[in-house]
Amino acid sequence: MFTNTIARQMKVWMLSALMAVSVSSYAQDKPNAENGKKLYEANNCGSCHALDKKVVGPALRGVHTRRSEEWLIQWVRNNEKFRKVTKDPDAIALYAEYGGAAMNIFENLTPANVLDIVEYIKTAPEPQKAVAVVADANQPKDDSTTLYILLVLVGIFSVVLLILARVKNTLKRVASEKNREELAALNAPKKGFFEKILPGKWGKKNPVVLALFTFAILGGAGAYYGFEFSITEVGVQKGYAPKQPIAFSHKLHAGELKLDCKYCHSTVEESKQASIPALNTCMNCHKGVQLTDKYNGEISPEIKKIYAALDYNPEAKPGEEYGKNPRPIRWVRIHNLPDHAYFNHAQHVNVGKQNCQTCHGAMEKMEVVQQHSTLQMGWCIDCHRNAQVDVANNNYYKALHEKAAKDIAANKSKSKYFSADGKVKLTPAMNGGLECSKCHY
Ligand code: HEC
Ligand code: HEC
Ligand code: HEC
Ligand code: HEC
Ligand code: HEC
Ligand code: HEC
Repeated sequence: MFTNTIARQMKVWMLSALMAVSVSSYAQDKPNAENGKKLYEANNCGSCHALDKKVVGPALRGVHTRRSEEWLIQWVRNNEKFRKVTKDPDAIALYAEYGGAAMNIFENLTPANVLDIVEYIKTAPEPQKAVAVVADANQPKDDSTTLYILLVLVGIFSVVLLILARVKNTLKRVASEKNREELAALNAPKKGFFEKILPGKWGKKNPVVLALFTFAILGGAGAYYGFEFSITEVGVQKGYAPKQPIAFSHKLHAGELKLDCKYCHSTVEESKQASIPALNTCMNCHKGVQLTDKYNGEISPEIKKIYAALDYNPEAKPGEEYGKNPRPIRWVRIHNLPDHAYFNHAQHVNVGKQNCQTCHGAMEKMEVVQQHSTLQMGWCIDCHRNAQVDVANNNYYKALHEKAAKDIAANKSKSKYFSADGKVKLTPAMNGGLECSKCHY
C-alpha cells in the first residue's frame, strides 16, 4: 500500500519533470505580443473582432482561457477545414452560435504567428477610460459603461453621505433639547461644507438640494456624453467585407455589364427591404454564360456553385435539368441595423429620391461588397438635417409644402425655411425626420 503510493508519486514527479523539459524547449521561441499586434492589424482581425465587445465575431479577450493553443491554431488558420474535415464539436458549435457568419481563412499565418496573436490578446491592456479611446472609423469601439456607473455611484454616494450628516445633526439637536445654550449654539449660523466651497448665497442652500443639483449636472453630462458616444462610436462596422459563398462581383455585373441595381434588387423601390436576388435571376444569363474559354473547356467553378445550389445539371436532357435537391446559397449579410431601428428603402429611394451610391458608395466599382457608411444614428440624423427634399409634384410632402409656403409669406426672408444662402431649404428633419418614433419601434 505504502510502496504503491511512493511509486505513484515517483511517476508524477517524473512526468512533471518531463513536461517541464518539453515546455522549456518549446518556450525557446516565446510568443511575441508585439509581432502579434502587427499581425492582428495587418490581417484586419479588427474588422470583425474587438477585444472586449462582440462585433461580427466574439470578443477575443480571454480566448486563451476557453480554447487550447492547438485549437486556436487550427481555428484561425482554417476554420472551415477545422469544422468540416476535423469536425471539431466546439468549432461547429461556435459557427452555429454566430448564425453561420464565416470567418476568413488565414493560412498565410504560421502556427507561431497565431500564438503571437494570442499573446497579444493575452497581454493587451484593459480599456481604461472612454475618453482614451482613439477614434478610428475602421476599428470597432469599446464600451464605456463602467465610467457612467462610476459617475452614478459617486453621485448616489454623496447624496447618502449628506442625508446621513443631516440625520446626525437632527439627532444631536433632539438630544440636547434641554440644554438651551447648546441648542442656541447649534442654531447659530455656522459655515457648512457648501458655504466653504461655494460663493455667496449658493453656499446657504439646503445641502441635500445642492447635492441633488450637482448629481443632476454630473448625470446629465454623463448621459449626454454616453449618447453622443453611442451614436457616433459604438459598433461601427464600416468597411466590413466578408467573403461570399460565390465570388460574385458588382464591379463586373453592375459596372462593366451595366446591369441596373433594380434588375437584381428588385423590391428596393416598393418595400422596406432591398431583396437579394434568387439564383434563378443569375440563370437568365448563366445557363449560357459558362466561361468555358477561361477554364480550358471546363465550366467556371464559380458558376458550378450556382448549378450545384439549384441542383441543375447542364448535361441533362431538356426538361430534366433541375433535380429535386436544391440547397439555397447563404450570402453573408453585410448591412445590418439593430432590431430597434427601422429603415425603409422605398421611403428613401422612391419618396426621398436618394441614390443607392449616397449610402452604399460606388458599388459598381466593388469586386467584393463592402459596407460604405457607418449606419449609425448620427449618420442618419446628419443626412436628415441636410438633405434637400423635392416637394414639388410629390403628394407625400403636401402638408410640409403648405406649411412652408405660409411661413415664407408671413416671415419673408426671415422664414426658417430659407437656408443661409437665401434658397428655400426643406429637409427630412422639417418633416419629422428627427422624431425618435419614426426610426425606433
Ligand atoms: C470576416 C470577419 C472575421 C475576420 C476578418 C476575423 N474573424 Fe475571427 N471570427 C469571426 C466570426 C464570425 C467568429 C465566430 C465563429 C463563426 O461564425 O465562424 C470568429 C471566431 C474567432 C475565434 C474564436 C473565438 C472564440 O470565442 O472561441 C478566434 C480566436 C478568432 N475568430 C480570431 C481571429 C483572428 C486572430 C483574426 C485575424 C487573423 C480573425 N479572427 C479575423 C469573424 C472574423
Ligand atoms: C446581377 C445581380 C446584381 C446587380 C445588378 C446588383 N447587385 Fe447588389 N447584390 C447582388 C448579390 C447576389 C448580392 C449578395 C452577395 C454579395 O454581397 O456580393 C448583392 C449585395 C448587395 C449589397 C449588400 C447587401 C448586404 O448583405 O448588406 C448592396 C448594398 C448591394 N448589393 C447594392 C447594389 C447596388 C447599389 C447595385 C447597383 C449599382 C447592385 N447592388 C447591383 C446582386 C446584384
Ligand atoms: C445579364 C446577365 C448576367 C446576370 C443576370 C448575371 N451574370 Fe454573372 N456574369 C455575366 C457575364 C457576361 C459574365 C462573364 C464576364 C466575362 O466574360 O468575364 C459573368 C461572370 C460571372 C462570374 C465570374 C465567373 C468566373 O469564373 O470568372 C460569377 C461568379 C458570376 N457571374 C455570378 C453571377 C451571379 C451569382 C449572378 C446572380 C446573382 C449573376 N452572375 C448574374 C452575366 C450575368
Ligand atoms: C438612405 C440610405 C440608403 C439608400 C439611398 C439605399 N440604401 Fe440600401 N441599405 C441602407 C441601410 C441603412 C441598410 C441596412 C438595412 C437594415 O439592416 O435593415 C441597407 C441595406 C441594403 C441591402 C441589404 C438588404 C436589406 O434590405 O437589408 C441591399 C441589397 C441594399 N441596401 C441595396 C440598395 C440599393 C440597390 C439601393 C438603390 C436602389 C439602396 N440600397 C439605397 C441604406 C440605404
Ligand atoms: C443620404 C441621406 C439620408 C440618410 C443617410 C438617411 N436618410 Fe432617412 N430620409 C432621407 C430622405 C431624403 C427622406 C425623405 C423625406 C421624408 O420622407 O420626409 C428620409 C426619410 C426617412 C424616414 C421617414 C420620415 C418621415 O417623416 O416620413 C425615416 C423613418 C427615415 N428616413 C429613417 C432613416 C434611418 C433609420 C436612417 C439611417 C439608418 C436614415 N433614414 C438615413 C434621407 C436620408
Ligand atoms: C433618422 C433615424 C433616427 C432617429 C430620428 C432617432 N434614431 Fe436612435 N438610432 C437610429 C439608428 C439607425 C440606430 C442604430 C445604430 C446605432 O447603434 O447607432 C439608433 C440607435 C439608438 C440608440 C442605441 C444606441 C446604441 O448604441 O445602440 C438609442 C438609445 C437611440 N437610438 C435613441 C434615440 C432617441 C432618444 C431619439 C430621439 C431623440 C432617436 N434615437 C432618434 C436612428 C434614429
